[in-house]
This record gives sequence, C-alpha cells and structure tokens, in this order.
Amino acid sequence: MTSFRLNGREVSVQTPDDAPLLWAIRDEAGLTGTKFGCGIGQCGACTVHVDGEAVRSCITPVGAVAGRAVTTIEGLDPKGQHPLQQAWIDAQAPQCGYCQSGQIMQAAALLKATPRPTDAEIEAGMNGNLCRCMAYIRIKKAIKAAAAKGVAA
Ligand code: FES
Ligand code: FES
Repeated sequence: MTSFRLNGREVSVQTPDDAPLLWAIRDEAGLTGTKFGCGIGQCGACTVHVDGEAVRSCITPVGAVAGRAVTTIEGLDPKGQHPLQQAWIDAQAPQCGYCQSGQIMQAAALLKATPRPTDAEIEAGMNGNLCRCMAYIRIKKAIKAAAAKGVAA
C-alpha cells in the first residue's frame, strides 16, 4: 500500500509500488481526466503534478510518490476554473480533447516556473506534449492569454 496526497486528500492505494501512478489515479481513485496515450513517456497525455512539477504518470512508479503531493486535472482548480482552463475555453483549444488535460497540466507547470514565457519558451516547455489533432496554435494562444493576465499557475 502506498499513501500520498491526491488533489489535497490523503489516499492509500493498493496498486503495486512498481506499477504506474497512472493506474492508481485512473483505476483506483477513479480520476479519469488523466489519459493513457503511449505508456512510454513520449506523448504527455498522462501529465500530472508531483509536488508541483509536471511528471509523466505512465512511467512514474506509484512507490515514487509515497508521502508526496499529486495533482491531477481534477485538482488543478476545484471548480475547473483555473485561469488556464478559462483561457483554453476562450481559445477553443481542444479538438478531440484527448491530449488536453496533459497539455493544461504541463502548461500550468510551465507558467509556474516561467510566468511570462517567450514563444520559444512555450514551444520548449510544451515540446513533449503531443496533439494528434494538431491544436498546437490554439494551445499556444491559450497559454499566452493566461500568461498575459499574469497567471503564475
Ligand atoms: S501516456 Fe504517458 S507520456 Fe504518453
Ligand atoms: S485535441 Fe485531439 S489529440 Fe489533442
């Protein structure tokens, strides 16, 4: 059993220590906003925060988050009204939506580290988050809009 904080709540999960954190999040905690894409750390669909840092939950063992704070898209803002989420809506960023929770979690970590990123910094920071629908232009627009409002997410 591994215990950690999940979206501000203490949880203990039975998922084996060496199994992916993503399994515990989706299958045990029932939080399905975090997606499974590639399973090998290459697409970013499974991105969550561990102690505020963006990590790929498909390649992070559950045991690695013992005693730490994990935040998923459901916990980014209790009402789903984080400034980035609002900027995403304003920009109508998603197409199919599958990659989008990972994109938002990655963007939140980016703006926390770099509140006013340049275009190059956005591209570098979001480089590992793939979008099969090619919504990159709208995603970038949403990040810039949130950053312009001074969001240190
Ligand atoms: S599902 Fe984790 S990086 Fe693709
Ligand atoms: S919106 Fe479809 S994969 Fe990104």
